Amino acid sequence: MCLKSLMTNYQQRVEAALASYLPMASIQPTHLHEAMRYSVLNGGKRIRPLLVYLVGNALNVAPTSLDAPACAVEFIHAYSLVHDDLPAMDNDDLRRGKATCHKAFDEATAILVGDALQSLAFYILSSEPNLQTTDKQRLEMITTLALASGSRGMAGGQAIDMESVGHILNIAELENMHIHKTGALIRASIKLGALSFPSIENNLLEKFDHYAKCIGLAFQIQDDILDIESDTETLGKPQGSDIAHNKVTYPSLLGLRSAKELAQELIDDAINSLSDFDEKADPLRWMANYIVTRSY
Ligand code: IPE
Ligand code: IPE
Ligand code: MG
Ligand code: MG
Ligand code: MG
Repeated sequence: MCLKSLMTNYQQRVEAALASYLPMASIQPTHLHEAMRYSVLNGGKRIRPLLVYLVGNALNVAPTSLDAPACAVEFIHAYSLVHDDLPAMDNDDLRRGKATCHKAFDEATAILVGDALQSLAFYILSSEPNLQTTDKQRLEMITTLALASGSRGMAGGQAIDMESVGHILNIAELENMHIHKTGALIRASIKLGALSFPSIENNLLEKFDHYAKCIGLAFQIQDDILDIESDTETLGKPQGSDIAHNKVTYPSLLGLRSAKELAQELIDDAINSLSDFDEKADPLRWMANYIVTRSY
């Protein structure tokens, strides 16, 4: 299958799987379920679930076994965006080209949407009958996602982000913030894909993990660059939000040019770490390049 059809295929697959895992809006409490569907089924790029599918694809794992981990990580990501946009955090009104959850609904609902999406992620990982892994690997998937989303992962990174407003960070502190708030979930996506293979070897896991760490950091550097260089319509979220909220970013610390160079170096490093893999890993190489060439 050519790369384009493969990506379209997985994109359609993840949309359908997300919609089927989410409770129907007709089920009580309807307002919360409607808000959950609103916040997930709204045109995200789906990079994290695609990474799960692409690693699984490189290891010949059946897509039916990848739906649960792919959707679990996207539910955590969607929850992180709903909370990130709240007035107490980034106070943004636009997400994926639509009103943010707390604007379309209300703040209490947005908080609950995040809570409920987080629980749903762990529910599907722990209960999905189509997961063709050992129980030990399923447990490791749950541990991986729990660590990546909690205070030592995404939520911790978000805490550092909030604390850093109005302070000057050095480059090591900024890197630490980015690898937690964004890198952790991207790293978890790759690991979940690899753990879907019933007998994954440690040295393969390490190579995938190196790829994941590099693209995870590059992803947030590109997000920071786009906040400056893109426009609100293309981004589907408010351009200039970082400057407006006094956020420390790679371009604010290093300048745009060095930030771009660093992102490209990380992508080259990511691609190098896949050198033992044949053309089955080409979609992952493509994804690495896409992360720094994307326009939104
Ligand atoms: C945005 O993530 C938030 C960050 C972690 C930088 P994405 O750029 O993946 O957002 P969606 O899912 O496509 O909306
Ligand atoms: C958010 O980073 C990261 C998470 C949601 C965990 P940003 O605040 O930069 O994300 P955007 O730019 O609002 O998507
Ligand atoms: Mg933020
Ligand atoms: Mg934000
Ligand atoms: Mg941003």
